[in-house]
Amino acid sequence: MNLNRRLFLASTTAALALPKALVASPNVLRAEPVQGQILPGGENTTAMLGFNGSTPGPALRVRQGEELAVRFENRMGEGSSVHWHGIRLENAMDGVPGLTQDLVQPGADFDYRFRAPDAGTYWYHSHNRSWEQVAKGLFGPLIVEEANPPEVDHDITVMLDDWRIEQDGTLMGDFGARHDFAHAGRLGNYAKIMTSEVSVMQGARVRLRLINTATARVFPTRIEGLNGWVVALDGMPLAEPRALADVSLAPAQRMDVIGDVTGPIKFIFIAQSELYEMGSIAAEGQKVLAAKAIEALPAANATRPKDQPDHALSLKMEGGAMGGRHAGDDIWAFNGVSGMSDAPWATFNRGDTVAIDLVNDTSFPHGIHLHGHHFYEVSADGSLGDLRDTSLVERGETQKIATVFDNPGKWLLHCHMLGHQASGMKTWVEVL
Ligand code: C2O
Ligand code: CU
Repeated sequence: MNLNRRLFLASTTAALALPKALVASPNVLRAEPVQGQILPGGENTTAMLGFNGSTPGPALRVRQGEELAVRFENRMGEGSSVHWHGIRLENAMDGVPGLTQDLVQPGADFDYRFRAPDAGTYWYHSHNRSWEQVAKGLFGPLIVEEANPPEVDHDITVMLDDWRIEQDGTLMGDFGARHDFAHAGRLGNYAKIMTSEVSVMQGARVRLRLINTATARVFPTRIEGLNGWVVALDGMPLAEPRALADVSLAPAQRMDVIGDVTGPIKFIFIAQSELYEMGSIAAEGQKVLAAKAIEALPAANATRPKDQPDHALSLKMEGGAMGGRHAGDDIWAFNGVSGMSDAPWATFNRGDTVAIDLVNDTSFPHGIHLHGHHFYEVSADGSLGDLRDTSLVERGETQKIATVFDNPGKWLLHCHMLGHQASGMKTWVEVL
């Protein structure tokens, strides 16, 4: 579906402010029907799902190494669960019904409790019928603060999302449309950013935590009004800050940028033929520029893979419309198998170094996400690149990744285009 130009441009006036939680980090997340403000303020609200009365749900913040204890209360008419995307946590807390826990039934509760070992930008979202529950709004930001956070004037969460809505703001139905699943997924016709602050001082130093919460759309993104440096991807610090440039963020991917404000901060979606402004953060007044250079965040606490992997595997994405060879029982498959098998795709001993070729043999990009671990993207020459938890693999391309599987349990590995996941592109590994 193409972006509806009228609707899309209607979003350019102001960014949507994220709800401010009453307490810094609530210890209850109550999933329930909510009215979301997707259209500009003053226009119709949208019947959706959310947490604690809003979508997105409240921002959860915890210090690195501290424990997060959250009671999930399901007050909706359907089963659900919460997944803490990107966190290296205990398997039983990973929130995957059928693999790590039972579905949390309507009216029931589930206590999540885990330590957050790595500072960074994460998010939480429903992991049941996620192509529909996340599209309806069941997600929120999860920020793990460094022990000594870099000095900034504003620490701002920026969620990029799109929705498929009618002119009157009603979410269009048919979330499980097979035609969408077989193509790029349920792309919205209306997109914008949702930020935790709507204005900053010109000259201020800001940290932007971008999170792509869309269920299908890759956002090629340009940020204007900021002399910025990328300091982390998927929560994981870069060894050296990288000058901010246009970047494609796949569903579930994050990017932290630190920079000095030179004007209104504009978030531009680079569409094929045009640039669309998805919203902006106003710049007011004038502040003296910070003198301090922007430095790298403290290094991630990651075990380096061995040069010779214990296992070298290939994960081939297959199926879908337009030329991809159809494999498996459903629309999409990994290595000829659609969906979850009784036995894991692979079993590793704790501490094994594993190299995986993510081979995209389809006509669509896919964002492949591994639970419970981070992995290195490996360049063609074999050197270790960025640490991530979700890798964007363009059509026809292969992305090598390598990681040390050191977190015991049963871990999902799936496409984060949630309609692709729903129609076969998922599997799991077991770490003994
Ligand atoms: Cu963010 Cu299994 O997902
Ligand atoms: Cu996919």
